[in-house]
Amino acid sequence: MRKKIAAANWKMNLSWKEGNELINQLLDRHPAINNGHQVILAVPFPYLTLAAKLIAGRSDFALAAQNCYHLPAGAYTGEVSASMLASIGIKYCVVGHSERREYQQETPAQLADKLQLCFNHAITPIFCCGEPLPIRENGDPSRYVTDQLIASLSSLAPEQIAQLIIAYEPIWAIGTGKTASSAQAQEMHLAIRNYLRDTYGSSIAAEIPILYGGSVKSSNATEIFANPDVDGGLVGGASLIADEFSAIIKALP
Ligand code: PGA
Repeated sequence: MRKKIAAANWKMNLSWKEGNELINQLLDRHPAINNGHQVILAVPFPYLTLAAKLIAGRSDFALAAQNCYHLPAGAYTGEVSASMLASIGIKYCVVGHSERREYQQETPAQLADKLQLCFNHAITPIFCCGEPLPIRENGDPSRYVTDQLIASLSSLAPEQIAQLIIAYEPIWAIGTGKTASSAQAQEMHLAIRNYLRDTYGSSIAAEIPILYGGSVKSSNATEIFANPDVDGGLVGGASLIADEFSAIIKALP
């Protein structure tokens, strides 16, 4: 059985004082996460080691970096490598978030390199995909997302693919308050899983958690997470509020 995951993506938000308080509230409200579910907090780089101290001893909570660089090391001022993340014990990294694809012009080839570097350092990537509004309205969203997977996953070995977490995040639903309907989410997750099954076989496809992201909140999480191919969420705005994120954790089936 694949894990159900509630992942928080803080993006570039919160002071450490606020972040510290938020994590402590979550830990207090969830002395144990039920059913082997996993909570992952993608906090800004400077908070990773601070947050690690707070969650020490809680294997049901883990930390993710929000990004890593696509090259292993060198003269790249301001960048953070996968090996650096591994050296401070980070086990997850978000790769290919639509905001980075758009604002930092990250290319599918760079994302493939990031995925490889993560795997080289035993970091589980949370690989993001999702279509923009014009494709949702006038195009073929399943084809678009499958093409994103082909473009960045094809160079990986099947054993690596089996370790991946995928986040389907329709761009038109991120931070907009618009959520994909439960049926749209399931349809896209199934398309992703079918692609994985056709390419890597059914046992690998069955193992890969596929998270939904895009305006997940306490009021819609239960319905979205109830879909057979939705394995939890990657949550932005609502993950910054203890009550909201706590309810989202509880909504994992
Ligand atoms: P949102 O962001 O929940 O604020 O829509 C989700 C994400 O970008 O991961």
